[in-house]
Amino acid sequence: MKKTKVLFVCLGNICRSPLAEGIFNHKIQQLGLTEFYEADSCGTGNYHIGSQPDERTIANASANGVSLNHCCRQLTNADLLQFDYILPMDASNLRNVHLLPDGASQRSKISLMREWDPQGKGKDVPDPYFGNEDGFQLVFEILDRTMDGFIGDLESRRTRSV
Ligand code: 4NP
Repeated sequence: MKKTKVLFVCLGNICRSPLAEGIFNHKIQQLGLTEFYEADSCGTGNYHIGSQPDERTIANASANGVSLNHCCRQLTNADLLQFDYILPMDASNLRNVHLLPDGASQRSKISLMREWDPQGKGKDVPDPYFGNEDGFQLVFEILDRTMDGFIGDLESRRTRSV
């Protein structure tokens, strides 16, 4: 059976989106659902291609029990065709995804990550890069609760269709 493919998108692909990927994978593993889903992440920018996630993101994820395994890459138009869900972290990145050649035709796959946040539907996941440690923990907490809503939605679709 074909896995549902989820792509998390931010600007640098070293803070928010690799953390979202790690949290998603962690939850999917804990729920015993790895046969159904796979995830990746990327950046709309090209500043950090080939890099590991920011060391502050790695440390924060680890403190929250999540390990990260990602090498930074940039979003491509082909991603829009290959993934089933494309989830930008903020409005600026959403705009840049929409501007890709297939951004309009694939629009139904593209949603802001926080569409699933019960405490801030449709808001931005704030960029922690230029801030302090508190910002990284805030991003973790936002993504942790938002991912529960997103996975719940994925699972209700999957279990309805089988
Ligand atoms: P991210 O954070 O988009 O969550 O990975 C950023 C990382 C790097 C930069 C900006 C945001 N930067 O300007 O290099």
